[in-house]
Amino acid sequence: MNTKFPTIRKCLFPAAGYGTRFLPATKAIPKEMLPVLTKPLLQYGVEEAVAANITTIAIVTGRGKRAIEDHFDISYELEHQIKGTDKEHYLTEIRALITQCTFSYTRQVEMKGLGHAILSGETLIGNEPFAVVLADDLCDDNRNGVLAQMVALYEQYGCSVVAIEEIPKEQTHKYGVIAGEEIEKGLYRVSDMVEKPDPKDAPSNMAIIGRYILTPDIFDILRETKPGKGGEVQITDALLEQAKQGRVLAYKFKGKRFDCGSVDGFVEATNYFYAKGVAE
Ligand code: UTP
Repeated sequence: MNTKFPTIRKCLFPAAGYGTRFLPATKAIPKEMLPVLTKPLLQYGVEEAVAANITTIAIVTGRGKRAIEDHFDISYELEHQIKGTDKEHYLTEIRALITQCTFSYTRQVEMKGLGHAILSGETLIGNEPFAVVLADDLCDDNRNGVLAQMVALYEQYGCSVVAIEEIPKEQTHKYGVIAGEEIEKGLYRVSDMVEKPDPKDAPSNMAIIGRYILTPDIFDILRETKPGKGGEVQITDALLEQAKQGRVLAYKFKGKRFDCGSVDGFVEATNYFYAKGVAE
């Protein structure tokens, strides 16, 4: 598409968190590597980025996350073992990603929150707009991936875009919640956003999920952002600064989302993808 705004070429995956809700599984295995069926959460996320024509993959990792780097690399011994056997097809999808994408990594040394993890990724992103995917929010849309939908909006409006979903009001304490004016069906210009509000203080029931398009001035804002809710540097607080200038859109995406950071959501996703696989 012809657009006067820079192309989104890079996708950042913050993947440094401790994943405490999945202990003890996440003691030695990164949460982002837990599989839904046979594929790790992070691989679904990278596939979604590729579906949005984004092939420069930047991953923020931390201690104990080396399995992520090994996953997006050739395993010669394994390749040698299964070459020419009827098992070779198991590697088709991951091989395709390794061929199409470049992967680069940086470490978040202290886990000071999502905003801080994104700021740690600046060294990989530089001065250009970029996408962010939280792999533990697993999205599915058969025709048009959520990130592709958001890139199309960025190409039109040239500002930050967050994906939102309506949630039951009693769950607002788990999410960043927005208020805004609807400018197109399902698209809001954000006027306020609050991190994990009590239901009684929530400005709406529209919750931010783990997909963002961010303009690069977010890094300067994050540098100045003080730790907020839970003592962590919150991306919501930084986005609020952009929102005050009318530069954040919230988009009710088309598709399904599973909160695979929680056991319930993870089981739901597994059942959904299993049923989908059987139906195909
Ligand atoms: P979560 O809060 O869901 O992840 O962060 P967590 O802290 O790993 O999980 P729990 O709550 O302890 O179970 C959302 C995403 O942001 C990343 C996480 O890896 C996850 O993908 N994150 C979070 C970081 O990279 N760094 C942080 O300091 C915090």
